[in-house]
Amino acid sequence: MPERKPRGAFIVVEGLDRSGKSTQVALLEQRFKAEGRPVRLAKFPDRATPIGKMIDAYLRSQSEMDDHAVHLLFSANRWELAQSIIDSLNAGTTVICDRYAFSGIAFSAAKNKPGMSYEWCRAPDIGLPAPDLTLFLDVSPEKARERGGFGAERYENADMQERVQHVFERIGVEMGDGSRWFAVDADQEQGAVTDELWMRIQPHAQGTERPIQRLWE
Ligand code: TMP
Ligand code: MG
Repeated sequence: MPERKPRGAFIVVEGLDRSGKSTQVALLEQRFKAEGRPVRLAKFPDRATPIGKMIDAYLRSQSEMDDHAVHLLFSANRWELAQSIIDSLNAGTTVICDRYAFSGIAFSAAKNKPGMSYEWCRAPDIGLPAPDLTLFLDVSPEKARERGGFGAERYENADMQERVQHVFERIGVEMGDGSRWFAVDADQEQGAVTDELWMRIQPHAQGTERPIQRLWE
């Protein structure tokens, strides 16, 4: 019988703006490459698609949009790339993703808009491929400020980030036992953060035989 090849693991890195996510994701990619393991980076929002371009204009305040509508666009942006993520995983490639559905819930629920409860924000992502592991880069407001403060995009202000942090904390609690969701202290220096992330990722680096799960199974 031919030996079945394990699929790649789906690894998500989440965190507030300024948590060092993008830097860490790039460093993790280098580690996979150095070990000769196939790896693909994904990032949400993916601003390159037509939907992504609408999101980009909204984030840069070049357009206004109803909060429900933009929430659904963020989700649609994940749905339009879901099959290609599944294909990569099934081809044996590890997918490392900078933000995913957790950001979708956290940023929209943090707006505290009537009719946009936590449950409402969660719903459009039901059925998307679920990460095998999510690493939450936990940065303190002091450290975020030290790192040069926020940019000029929508949501990049201390008030909003604090509310987003609270929703992320709730998500962490609901994700449960700690095998799928780990908070990593992102106030540490860069190399220490990478080492800790790598330690969590290593058990997944060779892939897995487990079928791809779906949100929110
Ligand atoms: P970025 O800075 O990682 O490109 O993300 C842009 C902003 O979009 C960031 O403030 C987080 C926010 N966001 C949402 O509001 N909903 C989502 O579903 C995602 C993926 C990001
Ligand atoms: Mg940003």
